[in-house]
Amino acid sequence: MKLPSLKIGKFCASFPLIQGGMSVRVSTSALATPVAECGGIGVIGGSGIPSEELNKDIKKAKSATDGVIAVNIMYAMKDFTELVMSSIDAGIDMIITGAGFSRDIFKIGKKYNTPIVMIVSSPPLAKLAERLGASAVIVEAKEAGGHLGTDKPLRELFPAVRDVIKKVPLIAAGGITNGYEMGEMMDKYGADGVQIASRFVLSEECDVADEFKQAYLDAKKEDIVLTSSPVGLPGRALNNPFVKAMNAGEDVSTRKCPYVCIKNCSHLYCINTRLALARDGNTKDGLIFSGENTYKMDKILSVAEIFRQFKKQAESVYKEGRGFRPAV
Ligand SMILES: Cc1cc2nc3c(=O)[nH]c(=O)nc-3n(C[C@H](O)[C@H](O)[C@H](O)COP(=O)(O)O)c2cc1C
Repeated sequence: MKLPSLKIGKFCASFPLIQGGMSVRVSTSALATPVAECGGIGVIGGSGIPSEELNKDIKKAKSATDGVIAVNIMYAMKDFTELVMSSIDAGIDMIITGAGFSRDIFKIGKKYNTPIVMIVSSPPLAKLAERLGASAVIVEAKEAGGHLGTDKPLRELFPAVRDVIKKVPLIAAGGITNGYEMGEMMDKYGADGVQIASRFVLSEECDVADEFKQAYLDAKKEDIVLTSSPVGLPGRALNNPFVKAMNAGEDVSTRKCPYVCIKNCSHLYCINTRLALARDGNTKDGLIFSGENTYKMDKILSVAEIFRQFKKQAESVYKEGRGFRPAV
């Protein structure tokens, strides 16, 4: 059965799929634009790049599509407010934020009539986000790539958050690699949509170096591990020589801080430098963030083909009415 559209504030995605934001130029307009064109919500990773560059990239995406374009900005960034204001100036449709909890962002969203979508990993934070005015809530479970706020799997965490969110769309994120799982989350668990990132790294349009994509294709289940981040949260990444050294307790710190980018940086290592190395193809020294189920994917596809497959698969398992549908 056809999946319902996803309405967030004044915006409507005809297919209820958000492409997860990926910082340090992993998800740029090159990926977000075709996602929006296919009816999903295309998300530009707004953390770890200068605000002027972000502003230009958002304008590029907005002029290339009439679909929905969002930006993902981590609250942990020192220039969080500057990035938010630069995105609004560029005409961004909505702001997605996580890795910490900003109360002020809701006031900014209200002032500029920009929907705020909050990424959470617990029922209390989900409730708080809804109460403060979030236009949608994303539940991100332990299967996700990048920074993690929980050790709970999606199928355990999601129902607990579903119980407390009644007024705004609730999106499931973490470990979804095909449309059957999307259909399952929407039909059986009552999700209003899904957020997916790792599947989109393995797209033709994703801007990362071929070596980054090849590392994803080569990854086996045991190669995807937990590691530490200077942000102060655990992270999920591929177990390359850099991560092995860090997890073994070796000193991987940078002598001099080149970016001064994170609010409470532990200086364990320079995350911006390491993410940029990976993005540009140095899969030995870089940090390759990855979802837990990347090993299940074996093909690089176009964004249009990913949407075609997800739609077909999800519609084959989605039976309207079986899931919980909040009034939005
Ligand atoms: C390479 C990579 C970079 C990411 N960067 C960010 C980020 O900057 N901000 C954020 O909120 N989430 C980030 N994430 C998390 C995703 O947006 C998404 O919620 C999560 O990975 C979903 O799980 P999946 O990858 O298994 O689909 C990142 C994930 C990956 C794989």
